[in-house]
Amino acid sequence: MVIKSAEFKTAAVRSGQYPDDHLPEVAFAGRSNVGKSSLINCLLQRRKLVRTSRTPGQTQTINFFLINGLFYCVDLPGYGFARVPMAVRAQWGPMVESYLGGRPNLRGVVQILDARHPPSPDDLKLWNWLIDRKIPAVPVLTKADKVPRTKWDAAASRASLSLGIPRDRLLLFSSETRHGRDALLLQVAAWIDP
Ligand code: GTP
Ligand code: MG
Repeated sequence: MVIKSAEFKTAAVRSGQYPDDHLPEVAFAGRSNVGKSSLINCLLQRRKLVRTSRTPGQTQTINFFLINGLFYCVDLPGYGFARVPMAVRAQWGPMVESYLGGRPNLRGVVQILDARHPPSPDDLKLWNWLIDRKIPAVPVLTKADKVPRTKWDAAASRASLSLGIPRDRLLLFSSETRHGRDALLLQVAAWIDP
């Protein structure tokens, strides 16, 4: 898939604010600061389409980006970061759950994990929640550039064991080197146009 256009469409905190044009959507979920927004920029080859930050909790609304006029990439706020204000954390669950659980347009979820660490309890909670609801999901280990290549296999095996999936369902990714971009784009394309 060639990315011909990518534009910010809208930010939402409740369902009445989602786009109403019935296009397919792919969502990106994960812990705060794990690198969701950077991964979307990398995937779409747009340096500054999505705002990224060293400070966790940058993305606090559900942000819709229209791609090729054909589908949406949906950047979700991150979970599980203690420094994010309490009020924001209390809002996260209902806001993201009602999107993921109640959106007919949703074709798949990219669950982003940190290649340096085993999946956290919150990561596992979301993963199992998606599986229970039969929402198509693929796990991606990002920031792979921060792990020596010799340890990639161990990191992937550890995560796949913990998520209960075969090792080859897991993608390693780096927004710095673009490793994994082509493979992830193929997955997104398959969801959009099965
Ligand atoms: P929130 O919106 O706060 O939930 O964070 P996020 O998950 O969208 O993370 P974001 O993309 O803003 O990235 C967080 C930090 O990690 C930034 O400082 C990025 O530059 C850095 N980062 C993201 N992806 C990578 C990566 O693949 N490799 C490296 N080395 N750094 C990364
Ligand atoms: Mg973000």
